[in-house]
Amino acid sequence: MRLKDRVALITGAGGGIGEATALLFAQEGAKVAVQDLNAQGAEKVAAAIAETGAQAIAVAGDVTKKADCENVVKTTVEKLGKLDILINNAGINKDAIARKMTEEQWDAVLSVNLKGTFLMCQAALAPMSAAKYGRIINTASIGALGNIGQANYSASKAGVMGLTRTLALEFARYAITVNCVAPGATETQMTAGIPEDIRKLIEGKIPFRRFAKAAEIAQAHLFLSSEQASYITGQTLFVDGGISVGI
Ligand SMILES: NC(=O)c1ccc[n+]([C@@H]2O[C@H](COP(=O)([O-])OP(=O)(O)OC[C@H]3O[C@@H](n4cnc5c(N)ncnc54)[C@H](O)[C@@H]3O)[C@@H](O)[C@H]2O)c1
Repeated sequence: MRLKDRVALITGAGGGIGEATALLFAQEGAKVAVQDLNAQGAEKVAAAIAETGAQAIAVAGDVTKKADCENVVKTTVEKLGKLDILINNAGINKDAIARKMTEEQWDAVLSVNLKGTFLMCQAALAPMSAAKYGRIINTASIGALGNIGQANYSASKAGVMGLTRTLALEFARYAITVNCVAPGATETQMTAGIPEDIRKLIEGKIPFRRFAKAAEIAQAHLFLSSEQASYITGQTLFVDGGISVGI
């Protein structure tokens, strides 16, 4: 077990990549705080973990609200004893070409993906710095490299990569590593609505010719959260079937 006795908090873990990560981390011995805006989703995942005999709590909250971020960290420490690992996975997209993108679409995506990640990192710093231990993994995307129709999403995810590098420098003194996973197209709710012809086009551009499974992204989270990654910080690991290579 690679996370025995560790406590992990995963945002947006009521479905998709966050759910797969929560299930894998519990299998690997971690106690897991399952955070999501969708309370029912969080409860469902925490219950599934509890059925396996592992310990999990569900905490509803909105990562764009500082008070909610502080609350989930406090609740995790109170109920699970400490906070070793933070996976900032919560994210949304609201696609439109730049000419037609509304201010609401811009603000919503930047707020969840970038501000939410910052607020959660800030909230986690108190218990992690006191313990002089921490693993923070943020979520970027292949979209950070540029994608038509995703000016807001791309900017938010490129922002997350810059935030990760800066926090890696600032948090190193507390022995906290801060890294980033950048998934390529992955089979979750976020991509479920892509029309079949567009999906085929995207698959054709991916060297592996398929979307990732959420469980494959979870494996990158596991590695960067493990003891094996103790000297890796400030990095972005693309998990994308090779699409970023050769761009
Ligand atoms: N699916 C992909 O192709 C893909 C590719 C690259 C990056 N990503 C990133 O991976 C992460 C997970 O995405 P996913 O594909 O599992 O999507 P998903 O929609 O299945 O899951 C996202 C979760 O985040 C939650 N969430 C949304 N807003 C929130 C908020 N304000 N506070 C708390 N929780 C909130 C949702 O309720 C949902 O459960 C996101 O950051 C996404 O941008 C996904």
